[in-house]
Amino acid sequence: MNLIYNDLYQFSIHIPPMQFTIHQYLLMCADPILVSTGTMQQAEHILPEIKKLLKGQTLKYILVSHMESDECGGLIAFQKEYPDVITVCSQLCARELPGFGYNGKILAKKQDDLLDGNGFSLKFIDYPSEVHLQNGLAFYEENSKIFFSGDLMLRFGDAVGKTMDSFWKEEIAAIDLERIPNAEKLEVLQKSLLQLNPDLIAVGHGFCIKCK
Ligand SMILES: [Fe+2]
Ligand SMILES: [Fe+2]
Repeated sequence: MNLIYNDLYQFSIHIPPMQFTIHQYLLMCADPILVSTGTMQQAEHILPEIKKLLKGQTLKYILVSHMESDECGGLIAFQKEYPDVITVCSQLCARELPGFGYNGKILAKKQDDLLDGNGFSLKFIDYPSEVHLQNGLAFYEENSKIFFSGDLMLRFGDAVGKTMDSFWKEEIAAIDLERIPNAEKLEVLQKSLLQLNPDLIAVGHGFCIKCK
């Protein structure tokens, strides 16, 4: 676990053969927020660390970018520990989760929706995630100016606890057709991202980015 930026804790696993890192985040605002659970194995590994950080406080929200084992495979482990936790995800993901045995609370969000809570103000951005171009979400927390990019701005390498510097506009321009293989949808996403002004990109994979 690393305190990667201000009140943001990062939990990670690095998979050497793939040069791939998978991160989860705990934003320690008044109502703490977990972003991504990791796989079930990862969730069981990080839960004790998260409990320690929360010091008896409950976990109110888990943000899930899209339906995939590294993003939400460990939801049930968290639900067991925090039965009232609310999973915030896209409408598609909200329909899928019960099929995977999750019977906890769900809040479905879409492009431009907002969610305000104690110490945070979240804005949601639709993004057509993964090969099937199904709707996932990215998250912008306006108080901390952190953008949680899911799989959008990933890099390879051992990036555990590491940040790099870049320009927000360059990161947006670097999202290519390999990641979002539909030019029209890519353009809509890039236009919507240009409206934001983050200080940090908390990536799902690879190096976190401090925006110059
Ligand atoms: Fe993914
Ligand atoms: Fe991912």
